[in-house]
Amino acid sequence: MLQEKLYQLGFDRNQDPHDEMDLEVSGVIPEWLHGSFVRNGPGLFYIGGQRMNHWFDGLGMLHRFTFQDGRVRYKNSFIDCHATDEALSSNELTYSEFATDPCWGLFGRVSSMFRHGPTDSAKVNVGKVGDRYYALGETTMQIEFDPETLETLGRYNFRQPKFGTSSTAHPHPTNSGAVNLITKYGPVNFYQVRKMDERASKLASVVTFSPSYMHSFGMSEKYYVIAESPFTVQSIKLIAANRPFIKNFKWDKNRGTRLWVVDRENGKVVHKAEVEPFFFFHFVNTFDTSNGVSFDIVTYPDAGIIEAYYLDAIGRGDRGIPGGTLKRFEISIGDPSRYVEETLSATGMELPHMDTARYNMNPDYRYVYSPSLASPDSTFYDQLVKVDVRDKTELTWREEGCFPGEPVFIPAPESSAEDDGILVSLVLDIQAERSFLVLLRADDLSELGRVFAPEPIMMGFHGNFFQKQRA
Ligand code: CO
Repeated sequence: MLQEKLYQLGFDRNQDPHDEMDLEVSGVIPEWLHGSFVRNGPGLFYIGGQRMNHWFDGLGMLHRFTFQDGRVRYKNSFIDCHATDEALSSNELTYSEFATDPCWGLFGRVSSMFRHGPTDSAKVNVGKVGDRYYALGETTMQIEFDPETLETLGRYNFRQPKFGTSSTAHPHPTNSGAVNLITKYGPVNFYQVRKMDERASKLASVVTFSPSYMHSFGMSEKYYVIAESPFTVQSIKLIAANRPFIKNFKWDKNRGTRLWVVDRENGKVVHKAEVEPFFFFHFVNTFDTSNGVSFDIVTYPDAGIIEAYYLDAIGRGDRGIPGGTLKRFEISIGDPSRYVEETLSATGMELPHMDTARYNMNPDYRYVYSPSLASPDSTFYDQLVKVDVRDKTELTWREEGCFPGEPVFIPAPESSAEDDGILVSLVLDIQAERSFLVLLRADDLSELGRVFAPEPIMMGFHGNFFQKQRA
């Protein structure tokens, strides 16, 4: 029953866009909170007669909650891009999504690929690069948007060779902008770290025989860390096989996860190793150590989580969803046989967040905040967890029938302690059939207040809080 409602409200529908409105609040909204929380995720799963297959397929929608003087305004909008414009105007899917292709007729795929290729619906994340705000996706097209109106202002495009290119939706901020990891498919495949500048300047390049699905990468003060899980593709299949993108990837039982550590100074590989196989979406934090580099990452024993995110699987909800395990890997540069793998939390989680603005690449960081699973039977993320990675202690926030999204940390003014601030998470409440933003104190996860959205909001991915300077 509950699963049916979670599926109906959280996944199995389309979301309407709304014009600017004031929202009802309860409890306390801190007076100092001034800026916009913007969350990205799917807004359209049905187009014409076709329903998308996978949680990662839905065409992107931005939700913006703007805080000012204890008041909250809201607006949501489809990401204005070619894929969504065409879907809405022609009432049919014309671009390829993660696990769904348009309904091609016989011989249709080739001509359609020539027309369109992969989606530009940048539905995964939002971030600021320099002065610009981007909706970020996994193809090479990133959409620049106005954080006030949510309108599209421009595009950022890594160049697209014949077989295609993927990028991660998790670029790392740098002093001069950001860097991202792209995968170039072809007769020879490359992982490349590139700057998000006008020329997409190449900083590092690594050749791989069979590229894997890459959702993020690590960056410390000194190094880039590229982890290649055994969930890989023969890249010829991306153009020759008549299958959606992710269906071309297979789990290879005969190998481990490969790691490349690249010196940021000169782009050279300084360490190459193979560790026990794991699948992952998210590096959480990466930092230098006396003899190498360590990274905290949410891992799975295999790529079964991709299967678990198919809409049919979520709709059935007949078993618990696989929980990601927060682990730390300590790499000794130059000694590939030696590494330490440590479990930091036994609580199954996904969509981890930390205070990236202040603690990225910092070995002294302590806190990871994430949606997580209250029990092995949980069919979706039904609580928030705060993990202290130093003391290995945890706190949770939970409410019956509530499914929280990624918790975003916002520091309090003049905050000194790492967890002196608040967490904001968009929660789907399936009993009340509505969504609300919950505001929690980040130190003890006690609740400060709620902001009620006008209707239930579909389960989405990443968000960010964009601080506004007071006039
Ligand atoms: Co992500």
